[in-house]
Amino acid sequence: MKIGISTGGGDCPGLNAVVRAVTLSAIKNQSWEVLGIQDGFEGLIDTERTQVLSIKDVDGILGLGGTVLGTTNRGNPFKYVVEENGEEVIRDISDTVVANFHKLGLDALILVGGDGTQSIGYRLFQKGLPIVGIPKTIDNDLLATDATIGYNTALAIAVDAIDRLHTTARSHHRALVVEVMGRYAGWIALEAGLAGAVDIILIPEIPFEVGKVCNHINKLIENGKHYSITVIAEGAVPLGGRHSIIESEAQNLGGVERLGGIGNWLSQQIEEIADIESRCVVLGHLQRGGPPSHADRLLATRMGTFAVDMVKRQRFGRMVALKGKALQEVDVAEAVDKVRLVRKDSETVLAARDIGISFGD
Ligand code: F6P
Repeated sequence: MKIGISTGGGDCPGLNAVVRAVTLSAIKNQSWEVLGIQDGFEGLIDTERTQVLSIKDVDGILGLGGTVLGTTNRGNPFKYVVEENGEEVIRDISDTVVANFHKLGLDALILVGGDGTQSIGYRLFQKGLPIVGIPKTIDNDLLATDATIGYNTALAIAVDAIDRLHTTARSHHRALVVEVMGRYAGWIALEAGLAGAVDIILIPEIPFEVGKVCNHINKLIENGKHYSITVIAEGAVPLGGRHSIIESEAQNLGGVERLGGIGNWLSQQIEEIADIESRCVVLGHLQRGGPPSHADRLLATRMGTFAVDMVKRQRFGRMVALKGKALQEVDVAEAVDKVRLVRKDSETVLAARDIGISFGD
């Protein structure tokens, strides 16, 4: 057997841990050959972008951030940008991917990715490719699994940043705003906000009113707390407004809306309305960098070996998922186009409200 492994979409801590687990398990346990496909699906479009992975190649990468295979959040073979007669046009080149899979002598392909990668994987499976998925994304927004590789580390980074901001906010009597990633889901903001003892949490699932945010900050001041921390998800929406009010339309990555800018906007609003000095910190890609947490290393290793076992059992068109504490397999179809959002009545939201955190609603 010869299997391919590819990492697609935005990188995150824990991807190398999966590459290592798949490689070690496939070689040591099954005596298979492993081919690393570079830069997402690009390595199946240009077959030069592949590398045989040996046990030595994955030595020392468990705790390494990013992905040794490279990745991209463009390069969808079903909507591939090609140049024709000096013009950029979109073409479906998925047949090339299927042909190259066979040309490379592959028997199966393990795709490590979020919603976008798994959707493409599902369509390639429908075209006959034997695919097994592994979920990763710092956004933690795949409905089919309780956890995705990368989220735990991103959360830890956000909590660490918030912890550090407390002292400077308090010293300067400022209202600090921390913008975190997460796309249309508020997991990082909610859980980092609660773990980081912030005053206000703003998430896409609960539209907020700027007036209520400012009232909360002023009330804190009245009660003697002359600083505050607000954590805001990049996809948070002011009531009656829209996502990413600053950057979205200008920045478009092959049809993928790029979120960001709402933290700075809110910080300005707070200065004007609440009349308190405010600063905004955008954590951005810091949340995707550096070594994976121990939890992500474990999850990645478990999911990687589980996926190899699924290949052995020919469980194609399926994805590894964590349900409770156990790994299971689910149909990839279940994992795509269905986003896992924070429920407004979830126990975590209620706990936050119980201890006086405002959601600006
Ligand atoms: O999906 C992961 C993620 O980090 C999102 O939280 C964020 O909106 C997006 O990717 C950023 O993408 P890029 O790396 O293209 O800026």
